[in-house]
Parts: sequence; C-alpha cells; structure tokens
Amino acid sequence: MIVLGIETTCDETAAAVVERREDSGGRILSNIVLSQISEHAAFGGVVPEIAARAHVEALDSIVGKAMHEANMPFGALDGIAAAAGPGLIGGVIVGLTTAKAIALVENKPLIAVNHLEAHALTARLTDGTPFPYCLFLASGGHTQILAVRGVGDYERLGGTVDDAVGEAFDKTAKLLGLGYPGGPLVEKEASQGDPKRFALPRPMAGRRDADFSLSGLKTALRLEAQKIAPLSDQDVADLCASFQQAVSDVVMDRLRTGLRIFRARIGTPTALVCAGGVAANQAIRKVLHRVAFENGIDLVAPPPALCTDNGAMIAWAGIERLALGLIDPLDVAPRARWPLEEVTKAAHKPSSFAAG
Ligand code: KG4
Ligand code: ZN
Repeated sequence: MIVLGIETTCDETAAAVVERREDSGGRILSNIVLSQISEHAAFGGVVPEIAARAHVEALDSIVGKAMHEANMPFGALDGIAAAAGPGLIGGVIVGLTTAKAIALVENKPLIAVNHLEAHALTARLTDGTPFPYCLFLASGGHTQILAVRGVGDYERLGGTVDDAVGEAFDKTAKLLGLGYPGGPLVEKEASQGDPKRFALPRPMAGRRDADFSLSGLKTALRLEAQKIAPLSDQDVADLCASFQQAVSDVVMDRLRTGLRIFRARIGTPTALVCAGGVAANQAIRKVLHRVAFENGIDLVAPPPALCTDNGAMIAWAGIERLALGLIDPLDVAPRARWPLEEVTKAAHKPSSFAAG
C-alpha cells in the first residue's frame, strides 16, 4: 500500500510518499520538507497569513518533488492523505484542497488525517511500536500525554492548560532577545549557565492529574530578568539554564504521573514514545530516558526529522487508516481545532470509489 501525505498545518510545507509492505513495516520513499522559518523569523513567531501564502506558492512543487523522488506516477498511489487539522486554517485549506484535487482527478481515496494522530502513530512507522503505548507530544503548538490504544483510539491523560512547552521556550528566547525558534537557542545558552542560580517555580508538580501549566514559569522568569537588568551574557545563560531545569523537572513529574494514570486505566504500556520538536532538547531527552527506565519500558524517539512536522507521518497515518477502510468524502471540512478525542473509528463509506 502506497500513500502520498501532505502537511501544511503550521510553517512547514511538506509532502512524502510512504509504502507499507506485506510484513506491515513502513518504508519512506520520499520525504520533502520546506521550512518557512526564515520568512517568519523577523516577526518572532509564525504569521498565519504569511504561512498560508507560502504554502500556496510552494506546495505544487513540493508534491512534484516527492512524487519524482519516489519515482512513481500519481496513478500508482493507493490513496492521498492530507492533514485536515488542527492548525492554522489558511494552511490547512491549501493542503487539504490540493489533496482533494489529486484524489478527484486520479480517482483515489482521500484520507483526512488529524495532525496529532499522525504524530501519535509515527513510532509505528519508524519502530513498529505495538499498541498500547504512552505518547509525550511536545511541540510549539501542543503539549499532551496520550494513551495510544489503537488507530483512532486515543485517550488524553494530560495536557497544557496554557502554553505548550515549545511555546514557553520560544517566549523565553524572545524575552531574552535570542531569536526564533527559541528552543535550540535557549538550550545552547543553558549549556553555559547555572541551573540553580534562579529559583523558578515548578508549576503543577505533585498534582494528581497529568496537566501542565507553563505561563507562570514564563512570568517568573521575566520578573527575575527585570530584577537584574541590564543582563550580562552570563545572566542570560543562567536564566536559560534555570528555565530549562524547571521545565525538565516539570516534564519529569508530569510524565511520572501520566504513566501512573496509564497503568491504572489501561495497563502496562509497550513503550514511552516522544514526538514534537521539544524532544530534540537533550535535557528533556534525559528526563524521558529516566522516566522510561523507572517504568521498565523502552523510550522510542523517532529521528528528529520525523518528530517535527513532516509529510511522511501524514502518509503513514493515511496508510494506517486506509488499511482499516477509514476514508473520507471529498467534501470533508478543514478544521482549525480538532482534539484527538474527536477522532473516532467512524468510517466514511467509500461511496465514490465503490466501483473500484
Ligand atoms: O514539532 P515542531 O517542529 O513544530 C510544531 O510546533 O509543530 O516543534 C517546534 C517547537 C518550537 O517551539 C521549538 O522552539 C521547539 O519545538 N524546540 C525545542 C528544541 N528544538 C525545537 N525546544 C527546546 N529545546 C530544543 N532543542
Ligand atoms: Zn506537529
């Protein structure tokens, strides 16, 4: 089974062709990602209107490249998948409409993929991880601890009530004048700093639920920075180190609780899986290893290029759904908001493809 996947929910224009073989292992035939970071950097974050226009300009050639690299015509595909949300609606419309056009012209099934479901299933493409597993998804837009029970079967064990982890890194970087995206820059500064210099809070630590709250941490950091301004290079490094330590401690506490809830509700997970750009952070990665070890399970960390937004994860989620007959009608709507809980196994009958 071979599927084309299109991703345009944020600031990456991406397309990929992925195959699932008889033994059910996945193979990436092409994976083209065009990052728009340089177009948004001057604004310190993603500008939705700029993103949507950039997707329109780039997508046709990105899809063309993905097909060319996979060395196959559209006619050889078994389905066309696109992220139909959640995300910036302008970009989602561009990707989903393109997928619909290809599906219509080529008379192929359309799979409208939930972007979070695609992150959730990536470990099965890279590592063949069996269900059920615990997913820690931490990106610029999302922070969730999920029980992944099966395709279309997700339970949210915890999530952020305000900022996402990546967003907190980005805002910290902006506050300290480091640039965008902030995560890697804060991590670099932190490596030169003293994590104990500033006593920042560990919001939500010790709570019985597995939720996160990061906006208070950001405020505490701002107050500390204001107290000692103007900041020396060492001050910036110490603030970054103290911030990263606080986030790491919070992630450890929340994940321990999340896994406790997983065991109580579902049983033993097969693995702890991470996804999203934040998993690239070495301090946080260490915490993930430690929590997995404590729980006697493996940490599955797909390579960074597949943890961040890409087309291969959309194609793979498309394959998983298509294999179960879960396809969508050509009038399926793009969605800015689309919680994973709302992704159900409800199959759309393949009316227009019934003849073959
Ligand atoms: O998954 P991703 O590439 O895009 C989406 O947000 O969908 O994640 C990007 C986020 C940004 O907020 C970025 O600052 C954060 O991941 N990030 C990091 C690191 N690398 C990327 N955060 C902390 N440490 C890093 N090394
Ligand atoms: Zn994402």
